[in-house]
Amino acid sequence: MTERLYTVAATEWSPGCTAPDAAQATLALENGRVLYLPRLAFRLPINERRFLSPRFSDGKTKNISYDPSSGGLRHTATAGADRTALARMMARYADAAHALVTGLCPTYARDLAWGLTSYRPVDATGRQTSPRKDDTRLHIDAFASRPVRGQRILRVFCNINPDGVPRVWNLGEPFEAMAARYATTVPAQLPGSAWLLEKLHVTKGRRSAYDHLMLSLHDRAKLDDDYQRSSSAVRIEFPSNSTWIVFTDLVMHAALAGQYLLEQTFYLPTANMMDETLAPLRKLENLCHRPLA
Ligand code: SIN
Ligand code: FE
Repeated sequence: MTERLYTVAATEWSPGCTAPDAAQATLALENGRVLYLPRLAFRLPINERRFLSPRFSDGKTKNISYDPSSGGLRHTATAGADRTALARMMARYADAAHALVTGLCPTYARDLAWGLTSYRPVDATGRQTSPRKDDTRLHIDAFASRPVRGQRILRVFCNINPDGVPRVWNLGEPFEAMAARYATTVPAQLPGSAWLLEKLHVTKGRRSAYDHLMLSLHDRAKLDDDYQRSSSAVRIEFPSNSTWIVFTDLVMHAALAGQYLLEQTFYLPTANMMDETLAPLRKLENLCHRPLA
């Protein structure tokens, strides 16, 4: 298809990957390619297909989220047996995604940390949001409440649409090009602000200079109408019953259309990469000539 994708033919969530293949796939990811698994589907047993409906969302947020470390489920109005079964479905996806990443990228296995699992039963085009929250605009991922302090954000997506509707994305220009456009004019964090945000529980942990810069890049790109209109982008359709893995802190992306998506977030220490110089942290430090961690 396009050189933006690195296709892997796996049909199992626990692929046995041999060393040279694993290193090649891992490096492709680190270089900003999307690991694309067109033949890897996440099948729902009959009794879980009832969850393929937007009514399970609470109507306020775009996704239902599950925390694999606590078992907590949020942003759904569901109660009782449905709630338990929905959490079980998402837990199964979390485990599958973990097995997939550690199978394809064994060097990540030791320090891969769990983030949230998300289920998006609402049509991607139908969300009314502010430009800053609008994921149909090109952006890198950076979380306002969850500082990463340089850790990578690695996400596993699976289109579980039952009617053959693809998930449509745009992939934007390379990270360096976007960063060169905005990074050097971002003002430093106000002294004491990171401390205050943590104290007020706005952030979970201390927001670093890196987090501040990444959030600013996220916002600037999304709020720049000219950029959204005119920067180069490649349109990709991920068919239903396909899976893809992306470093979303590196790859400019926008979700244009689709419904029924599962997603698992992982955090990876920069030091665990095969080539640390490919991390946004290192790229931004080079650009700004100062340490940011
Ligand atoms: C995003 O990560 O920006 C959204 C991806 C999607 O919902 O397809
Ligand atoms: Fe995103």
